[in-house]
Amino acid sequence: MSEIEPNIPANLKHIAIIMDGNGRWAQKRGKKRVMGHKAGMERAREMAEYCGEQGISVLTLFAFSSENWKRPQDEVSFLMDLFATSLKNESKKLHKNNVKLVVIGDKAGFDKRLQKAIDNAEELTKDNHGLLLQIAANYGGHWDITQAANQCLMDGIGKITEDDISKRLVTADVTDVDLMIRTGGEQRISNFLLWQTAYSELYFSDALWPDFDSKELEVAISDFAKRQRRFGQTGEQIG
Ligand code: IPE
Ligand code: IPE
Ligand code: MG
Repeated sequence: MSEIEPNIPANLKHIAIIMDGNGRWAQKRGKKRVMGHKAGMERAREMAEYCGEQGISVLTLFAFSSENWKRPQDEVSFLMDLFATSLKNESKKLHKNNVKLVVIGDKAGFDKRLQKAIDNAEELTKDNHGLLLQIAANYGGHWDITQAANQCLMDGIGKITEDDISKRLVTADVTDVDLMIRTGGEQRISNFLLWQTAYSELYFSDALWPDFDSKELEVAISDFAKRQRRFGQTGEQIG
């Protein structure tokens, strides 16, 4: 835990993180890529604890994209096992810390055992009102918007409004992303939350995810605090 009390800006409610660079982190150390995922998991836990303690409302972590299935089979299997084990091992502690855990993504793509682990963790923590921790797994921004549009069709909506889509995204009632962070040096969105980041502040870090600790997050938060969010208005209007 950090000794410096960071100032969490009042307009910072939702942080989303593209946790990138696990494979390179491991390879740099002469280890297998999957060891980077294991180390990355520790960081995810640390980030959730930090955000909970600091009173952030929502933390969304990109854990597995709808495109990551294209990776070598053994890496995909490792990630699925790690996800299932982590859900089992972490959910009691999350519950104790009043964290509500929700998995956003196409859960039907997971095997039954993992689906069960997800259901159990979500069920256990569903009434908590501390940090909302959204784990994006088998998630793609295109998939999310498409499934929302399909729900509109099923609901018999003739002419779709922005609000109709918004309400049917997997993030439905969750406030849009204020700060989106990507570690690992790349500056791209990789099909993460597309709709929900329309007006997010973007922060890119060269740190590989297993090296991104709460100190690094504090740097990102201070950077966010210095920005003027105009939402289309002029600087004078914002004041
Ligand atoms: C991010 O790290 C984790 C997942 C995509 C599951 P990577 O595995 O993409 O790490 P690099 O980018 O190859 O280093
Ligand atoms: C994005 O990282 C997905 C996650 C962090 C889960 P990738 O490593 O899959 O992204 P690309 O392929 O470099 O765009
Ligand atoms: Mg990557």
